[in-house]
Amino acid sequence: MKTLRTIGEVREAIDPAKRIGLVPTMGALHDGHLSLLRAARADCEVVVLSLFVNPAQFDLNEDLARYPRTEEQDARLAEREGVDFLFAPEPGELYPEGFATWVDVEETGAEGKARPGHFRGVATVCLKLFNIVRPHVAYFGQKDAQQAAVLRRLVRDLDLPLELRVLPTVRDVDGLALSSRNAYLSSEERARALALPRALEAGKAAHARGDDPVAVAQAALNGLQPDYVELVDVGGATLLASAARIGATRLIDNVVLEGELR
Ligand code: PAJ
Repeated sequence: MKTLRTIGEVREAIDPAKRIGLVPTMGALHDGHLSLLRAARADCEVVVLSLFVNPAQFDLNEDLARYPRTEEQDARLAEREGVDFLFAPEPGELYPEGFATWVDVEETGAEGKARPGHFRGVATVCLKLFNIVRPHVAYFGQKDAQQAAVLRRLVRDLDLPLELRVLPTVRDVDGLALSSRNAYLSSEERARALALPRALEAGKAAHARGDDPVAVAQAALNGLQPDYVELVDVGGATLLASAARIGATRLIDNVVLEGELR
Protein backbone atom coordinates (compact mmCIF):
# COMPACT_ATOMS: atom_id res chain seq x y z
CA MET A 1 0.00 0.00 0.00
CA LYS A 2 1.21 3.45 -0.86
CA THR A 3 0.35 6.57 1.16
CA LEU A 4 -0.37 9.68 -0.93
CA ARG A 5 -0.50 13.19 0.58
CA THR A 6 -1.09 15.50 -2.38
CA ILE A 7 -3.46 15.75 -5.33
CA GLY A 8 -0.44 15.66 -7.63
CA GLU A 9 0.71 12.35 -6.12
CA VAL A 10 -2.77 10.85 -6.66
CA ARG A 11 -2.83 11.95 -10.31
CA GLU A 12 0.58 10.37 -10.87
CA ALA A 13 0.04 7.13 -8.96
CA ILE A 14 -3.46 6.02 -10.02
CA ASP A 15 -4.07 4.63 -13.52
CA PRO A 16 -7.46 5.99 -14.71
CA ALA A 17 -7.82 3.12 -17.19
CA LYS A 18 -8.28 0.67 -14.29
CA ARG A 19 -11.58 0.13 -12.44
CA ILE A 20 -11.12 2.29 -9.35
CA GLY A 21 -13.03 1.92 -6.07
CA LEU A 22 -12.98 4.75 -3.50
CA VAL A 23 -13.88 4.43 0.18
CA PRO A 24 -14.03 7.92 1.76
CA THR A 25 -13.53 7.98 5.56
CA MET A 26 -12.45 10.22 8.41
CA GLY A 27 -10.30 7.41 9.84
CA ALA A 28 -10.44 5.73 13.27
CA LEU A 29 -11.34 2.66 11.22
CA HIS A 30 -13.67 -0.02 12.59
CA ASP A 31 -15.38 -3.08 11.08
CA GLY A 32 -18.00 -0.86 9.39
CA HIS A 33 -15.28 0.88 7.37
CA LEU A 34 -13.56 -2.45 6.73
CA SER A 35 -16.77 -3.92 5.24
CA LEU A 36 -16.69 -1.10 2.65
CA LEU A 37 -13.02 -1.81 1.87
CA ARG A 38 -13.82 -5.52 1.38
CA ALA A 39 -16.64 -4.72 -1.05
CA ALA A 40 -14.32 -2.40 -2.99
CA ARG A 41 -11.58 -5.05 -3.04
CA ALA A 42 -14.03 -7.61 -4.43
CA ASP A 43 -15.35 -5.27 -7.19
CA CYS A 44 -12.40 -3.15 -8.31
CA GLU A 45 -8.88 -3.37 -9.68
CA VAL A 46 -7.61 -0.44 -7.64
CA VAL A 47 -8.84 0.32 -4.11
CA VAL A 48 -8.32 3.81 -2.68
CA LEU A 49 -9.05 4.64 0.95
CA SER A 50 -9.26 8.34 1.75
CA LEU A 51 -8.64 9.46 5.31
CA PHE A 52 -9.46 13.09 5.97
CA VAL A 53 -11.08 14.60 9.06
CA ASN A 54 -13.01 17.20 7.09
CA PRO A 55 -13.18 20.46 9.07
CA ALA A 56 -15.95 21.78 6.78
CA GLN A 57 -18.52 19.26 8.03
CA PHE A 58 -18.11 19.89 11.78
CA ASP A 59 -20.38 22.42 13.48
CA LEU A 60 -18.61 25.25 15.31
CA ASN A 61 -19.09 23.88 18.82
CA GLU A 62 -18.68 20.30 17.75
CA ASP A 63 -16.05 17.63 18.11
CA LEU A 64 -13.44 18.48 15.44
CA ALA A 65 -10.63 18.84 17.97
CA ARG A 66 -11.44 15.65 19.86
CA TYR A 67 -12.27 13.51 16.81
CA PRO A 68 -10.11 10.34 17.11
CA ARG A 69 -6.98 10.33 14.92
CA THR A 70 -5.30 6.93 14.58
CA GLU A 71 -3.58 7.04 11.20
CA GLU A 72 -0.85 4.49 11.95
CA GLN A 73 -3.33 1.87 13.08
CA ASP A 74 -5.66 2.75 10.17
CA ALA A 75 -2.80 2.22 7.72
CA ARG A 76 -2.08 -1.21 9.20
CA LEU A 77 -5.76 -2.25 8.94
CA ALA A 78 -6.02 -0.89 5.38
CA GLU A 79 -2.90 -2.75 4.31
CA ARG A 80 -4.36 -5.96 5.71
CA GLU A 81 -7.55 -5.42 3.63
CA GLY A 82 -5.51 -5.12 0.45
CA VAL A 83 -5.94 -1.38 -0.07
CA ASP A 84 -3.67 -0.11 -2.85
CA PHE A 85 -3.57 3.60 -1.98
CA LEU A 86 -4.21 5.53 1.21
CA PHE A 87 -4.95 9.17 0.38
CA ALA A 88 -4.40 11.21 3.57
CA PRO A 89 -4.05 14.91 2.69
CA GLU A 90 -3.41 17.81 5.07
CA PRO A 91 -6.36 20.26 5.43
CA GLY A 92 -4.49 22.91 3.39
CA GLU A 93 -4.24 20.50 0.44
CA LEU A 94 -8.04 20.28 0.07
CA TYR A 95 -8.86 23.79 1.36
CA PRO A 96 -6.04 26.06 0.18
CA GLU A 97 -6.11 29.72 1.11
CA GLY A 98 -8.86 31.53 -0.75
CA PHE A 99 -11.07 28.43 -1.08
CA ALA A 100 -14.56 29.77 -1.85
CA THR A 101 -16.62 27.20 -3.78
CA TRP A 102 -19.24 25.07 -2.00
CA VAL A 103 -21.77 22.47 -3.10
CA ASP A 104 -25.09 22.70 -1.33
CA VAL A 105 -27.62 19.89 -1.84
CA GLU A 106 -30.93 21.43 -0.79
CA GLU A 107 -32.71 18.19 0.15
CA THR A 108 -31.10 16.99 3.40
CA GLY A 109 -33.95 15.75 5.62
CA ALA A 110 -34.16 16.00 9.39
CA GLU A 111 -30.46 15.17 9.83
CA GLY A 112 -29.58 18.20 7.66
CA LYS A 113 -31.93 20.43 9.66
CA ALA A 114 -30.39 19.22 12.93
CA ARG A 115 -26.86 20.05 11.68
CA PRO A 116 -26.93 23.21 9.56
CA GLY A 117 -23.99 23.34 7.13
CA HIS A 118 -22.95 19.75 7.81
CA PHE A 119 -24.02 18.28 4.46
CA ARG A 120 -22.59 21.26 2.58
CA GLY A 121 -19.21 20.21 3.99
CA VAL A 122 -19.83 16.54 3.21
CA ALA A 123 -21.02 17.16 -0.37
CA THR A 124 -18.15 19.55 -1.09
CA VAL A 125 -15.41 17.25 0.19
CA CYS A 126 -16.91 14.21 -1.53
CA LEU A 127 -17.16 16.03 -4.87
CA LYS A 128 -13.51 17.05 -4.45
CA LEU A 129 -12.49 13.46 -3.62
CA PHE A 130 -14.44 12.17 -6.65
CA ASN A 131 -12.67 14.71 -8.88
CA ILE A 132 -9.25 13.93 -7.44
CA VAL A 133 -9.45 10.11 -7.38
CA ARG A 134 -11.93 9.69 -10.29
CA PRO A 135 -13.42 6.40 -9.01
CA HIS A 136 -15.80 4.21 -11.00
CA VAL A 137 -17.48 3.18 -7.76
CA ALA A 138 -17.61 4.91 -4.36
CA TYR A 139 -18.71 3.02 -1.23
CA PHE A 140 -20.80 4.38 1.65
CA GLY A 141 -22.47 2.94 4.74
CA GLN A 142 -26.19 2.71 5.46
CA LYS A 143 -25.41 3.91 9.00
CA ASP A 144 -25.24 7.46 7.59
CA ALA A 145 -28.38 7.05 5.48
CA GLN A 146 -29.11 10.74 4.96
CA GLN A 147 -25.51 11.25 3.86
CA ALA A 148 -25.92 8.48 1.27
CA ALA A 149 -29.18 10.08 0.08
CA VAL A 150 -27.52 13.51 -0.24
CA LEU A 151 -24.59 12.05 -2.19
CA ARG A 152 -26.92 10.15 -4.56
CA ARG A 153 -28.67 13.46 -5.21
CA LEU A 154 -25.28 15.12 -5.86
CA VAL A 155 -24.23 12.39 -8.32
CA ARG A 156 -27.55 12.61 -10.20
CA ASP A 157 -27.89 16.39 -10.20
CA LEU A 158 -24.31 17.08 -11.33
CA ASP A 159 -24.12 14.10 -13.76
CA LEU A 160 -21.07 12.64 -12.05
CA PRO A 161 -19.66 9.62 -13.91
CA LEU A 162 -19.57 7.20 -11.01
CA GLU A 163 -21.72 4.65 -9.22
CA LEU A 164 -22.49 4.84 -5.50
CA ARG A 165 -22.88 1.66 -3.50
CA VAL A 166 -24.48 1.72 -0.05
CA LEU A 167 -23.69 -1.21 2.24
CA PRO A 168 -25.49 -2.45 5.39
CA THR A 169 -24.67 -1.17 8.86
CA VAL A 170 -22.17 -3.26 10.82
CA ARG A 171 -23.13 -3.60 14.50
CA ASP A 172 -21.59 -4.72 17.77
CA VAL A 173 -22.89 -8.05 19.12
CA ASP A 174 -25.44 -6.22 21.30
CA GLY A 175 -26.84 -4.25 18.34
CA LEU A 176 -25.15 -0.84 18.72
CA ALA A 177 -24.06 0.45 15.30
CA LEU A 178 -20.27 0.75 15.08
CA SER A 179 -19.15 4.38 14.99
CA SER A 180 -15.86 6.17 15.55
CA ARG A 181 -17.80 8.30 18.07
CA ASN A 182 -18.66 5.28 20.26
CA ALA A 183 -15.16 5.75 21.71
CA TYR A 184 -16.51 8.83 23.54
CA LEU A 185 -19.12 6.86 25.51
CA SER A 186 -18.60 5.90 29.17
CA SER A 187 -19.75 2.36 30.02
CA GLU A 188 -22.93 3.77 31.56
CA GLU A 189 -23.60 5.84 28.42
CA ARG A 190 -22.78 2.84 26.21
CA ALA A 191 -25.51 0.86 28.02
CA ARG A 192 -28.04 3.70 27.64
CA ALA A 193 -27.20 4.06 23.93
CA LEU A 194 -28.67 0.61 23.25
CA ALA A 195 -32.13 2.18 23.50
CA LEU A 196 -31.51 3.69 20.03
CA PRO A 197 -31.16 0.44 17.99
CA ARG A 198 -33.84 -1.20 20.16
CA ALA A 199 -36.34 1.59 19.51
CA LEU A 200 -35.67 1.36 15.77
CA GLU A 201 -36.20 -2.41 15.85
CA ALA A 202 -39.48 -1.82 17.73
CA GLY A 203 -40.47 0.66 15.00
CA LYS A 204 -39.62 -1.89 12.33
CA ALA A 205 -41.74 -4.57 14.04
CA ALA A 206 -44.61 -2.08 14.33
CA HIS A 207 -44.37 -1.28 10.61
CA ALA A 208 -44.47 -5.01 9.77
CA ARG A 209 -47.79 -5.35 11.62
CA GLY A 210 -49.26 -2.20 10.08
CA ASP A 211 -48.67 0.28 12.94
CA ASP A 212 -46.92 3.65 12.76
CA PRO A 213 -43.14 2.98 12.98
CA VAL A 214 -42.26 6.59 13.89
CA ALA A 215 -44.68 6.78 16.83
CA VAL A 216 -43.67 3.37 18.17
CA ALA A 217 -39.92 4.10 17.90
CA GLN A 218 -40.40 7.49 19.58
CA ALA A 219 -42.23 5.87 22.48
CA ALA A 220 -39.56 3.13 22.80
CA LEU A 221 -36.62 5.54 23.10
CA ASN A 222 -36.69 5.08 26.85
CA GLY A 223 -35.74 8.54 28.03
CA LEU A 224 -33.27 9.29 25.21
CA GLN A 225 -34.15 12.71 23.77
CA PRO A 226 -34.09 12.23 19.98
CA ASP A 227 -33.31 15.10 17.58
CA TYR A 228 -35.81 13.36 15.28
CA VAL A 229 -37.34 10.06 14.26
CA GLU A 230 -38.06 10.06 10.52
CA LEU A 231 -38.41 8.01 7.33
CA VAL A 232 -35.55 8.34 4.79
CA ASP A 233 -35.59 7.05 1.20
CA VAL A 234 -32.26 5.91 -0.16
CA GLY A 235 -31.33 3.70 -3.10
CA GLY A 236 -34.76 2.09 -3.44
CA ALA A 237 -35.25 1.45 0.30
CA THR A 238 -37.29 3.19 2.99
CA LEU A 239 -35.45 3.50 6.30
CA LEU A 240 -36.53 4.50 9.79
CA ALA A 241 -33.81 6.83 11.12
CA SER A 242 -33.12 8.61 14.39
CA ALA A 243 -30.46 10.71 16.13
CA ALA A 244 -30.04 11.06 19.87
CA ARG A 245 -27.63 12.70 22.26
CA ILE A 246 -26.16 10.57 25.05
CA GLY A 247 -24.23 12.91 27.32
CA ALA A 248 -21.94 14.93 25.03
CA THR A 249 -22.08 12.39 22.21
CA ARG A 250 -24.54 12.43 19.33
CA LEU A 251 -25.34 9.04 17.80
CA ILE A 252 -27.37 8.23 14.67
CA ASP A 253 -28.84 4.95 13.49
CA ASN A 254 -31.50 3.52 11.16
CA VAL A 255 -33.13 0.28 10.03
CA VAL A 256 -34.56 -0.78 6.66
CA LEU A 257 -38.38 -0.89 6.66
CA GLU A 258 -38.93 -1.68 3.02
CA GLY A 259 -37.04 -2.37 -0.18
CA GLU A 260 -33.40 -3.19 -0.58
CA LEU A 261 -30.38 -0.94 -0.32
CA ARG A 262 -28.15 -0.71 -3.33
P1 PAJ B 1 -16.88 8.25 8.52
O1 PAJ B 1 -17.79 8.58 9.63
O2 PAJ B 1 -15.46 7.92 8.80
O3 PAJ B 1 -17.53 7.08 7.72
C1 PAJ B 1 -16.94 6.61 6.52
C2 PAJ B 1 -17.91 5.64 5.84
O4 PAJ B 1 -18.11 4.50 6.69
C3 PAJ B 1 -19.29 6.28 5.62
O5 PAJ B 1 -19.78 5.90 4.34
C4 PAJ B 1 -20.12 5.66 6.72
O6 PAJ B 1 -21.50 5.58 6.42
C5 PAJ B 1 -19.50 4.29 6.83
N1 PAJ B 1 -19.80 3.68 8.14
C6 PAJ B 1 -19.65 4.24 9.36
N2 PAJ B 1 -20.08 3.39 10.33
C7 PAJ B 1 -20.52 2.28 9.70
C8 PAJ B 1 -21.08 1.04 10.14
N3 PAJ B 1 -21.30 0.77 11.44
N4 PAJ B 1 -21.41 0.11 9.20
C9 PAJ B 1 -21.21 0.37 7.87
N5 PAJ B 1 -20.67 1.51 7.41
C10 PAJ B 1 -20.33 2.45 8.29
O7 PAJ B 1 -19.01 9.47 6.81
C11 PAJ B 1 -17.92 10.03 6.86
O8 PAJ B 1 -16.82 9.50 7.49
C12 PAJ B 1 -17.66 11.39 6.22
O9 PAJ B 1 -18.85 12.14 6.26
C13 PAJ B 1 -17.14 11.29 4.76
C14 PAJ B 1 -18.15 10.60 3.82
C15 PAJ B 1 -15.79 10.56 4.73
C16 PAJ B 1 -16.92 12.74 4.20
O10 PAJ B 1 -16.02 13.44 4.98
